[in-house]
Amino acid sequence: MKRRTFIKSTALGVGAAVISNPLLIKAAAGQTNINNEFPIAIASANGIRAVDKAVEMMNDGSDAIDAVIKGVNIIEADPDDMSVGYGGLPNEEGVVELDSCCMHGPTHNAGAVASLRNIKHPSQVAKLVMQRTDHVLLAGEGALRFAKAHGFKEEDLLTDKAREVWLYWKESLSNKDNWFTPGEEEKIPEEIRKHFGITGTITCLGIDKQGNISGVTTTSGLAFKIPGRVGDSPIIGAGLYVDNEVGACGSTGRGEENLKNLTCFLIVEFMRQGMTPTEACMAGVKRVVLNTKIKSLIDEKGKINYNVSYYALNKKGEFGAASIYGPHEYSININGKGELKKADFLYENKN
Ligand code: GLY
Repeated sequence: MKRRTFIKSTALGVGAAVISNPLLIKAAAGQTNINNEFPIAIASANGIRAVDKAVEMMNDGSDAIDAVIKGVNIIEADPDDMSVGYGGLPNEEGVVELDSCCMHGPTHNAGAVASLRNIKHPSQVAKLVMQRTDHVLLAGEGALRFAKAHGFKEEDLLTDKAREVWLYWKESLSNKDNWFTPGEEEKIPEEIRKHFGITGTITCLGIDKQGNISGVTTTSGLAFKIPGRVGDSPIIGAGLYVDNEVGACGSTGRGEENLKNLTCFLIVEFMRQGMTPTEACMAGVKRVVLNTKIKSLIDEKGKINYNVSYYALNKKGEFGAASIYGPHEYSININGKGELKKADFLYENKN
């Protein structure tokens, strides 16, 4: 277990156990897009190329929904990002299963796919669910058939690197099975071990030149999950939420806790009540921490043993992000070149 030290408390010096009402706690001031310059795009830290692509497209007149999806397509196709699309870490049986959703502010419409296998760009399929059906979420075999009906070709999404990480994980699960353990856990190369138990993901939100807001979230989900496990990323309100009159929020990190709190919806509602995006994200973080009661999610020192992160922007173009553990960064592009900015966080994560 990593040693984690509580140091930064925007909860005015109190620990997770005594946070009483996140609604009453003010976090640091949000980042301001002083000139209200549009277009802008915000994404998780792995999304610099996504925000650059999205802003480039919106500058050329694209609707934000098309722009943010084209942005995350770059990461879905990148085998080196092992939390999204092609090259994502597989389920416990070695099969890559992808989740994604998108939401279009002007129409308040949404589409999603869950447990989709063999299709590199689940976000594109999610957009087709939104645009070409009156459903919101297709899962598993039905989602695959729908994708193929629209001309998507099946591909093996498991790269050699992801297979190798999965195999190490499988071999080190137990010394009571027929798989030889490759060594003590500390002997597993750090390059491999760092991928155990991750919940990566990319989320990207944008405001186009018309001032309309859209967003997308896409992921390979929890590494080595039970086949069929669906996280927060394809669930509207959990992994993404957009209200064109207020703003948008997307999330990365442990999906189960977002599912139980519908945190992205909550954060947009916090912004509706007047919080800045950073304040709203931090209030969402505190709500999740407050609602964490399951013993397996709390270490022997009483600290939360997982992370979630939120990224938000509002109608004015203000933006921000917050996570349980930091330091943590996010990608932002205000009508120019993407850069990484530091997100707010509750606790410092010391490895
Ligand atoms: N947030 C990604 C997942 O838990 O699946």
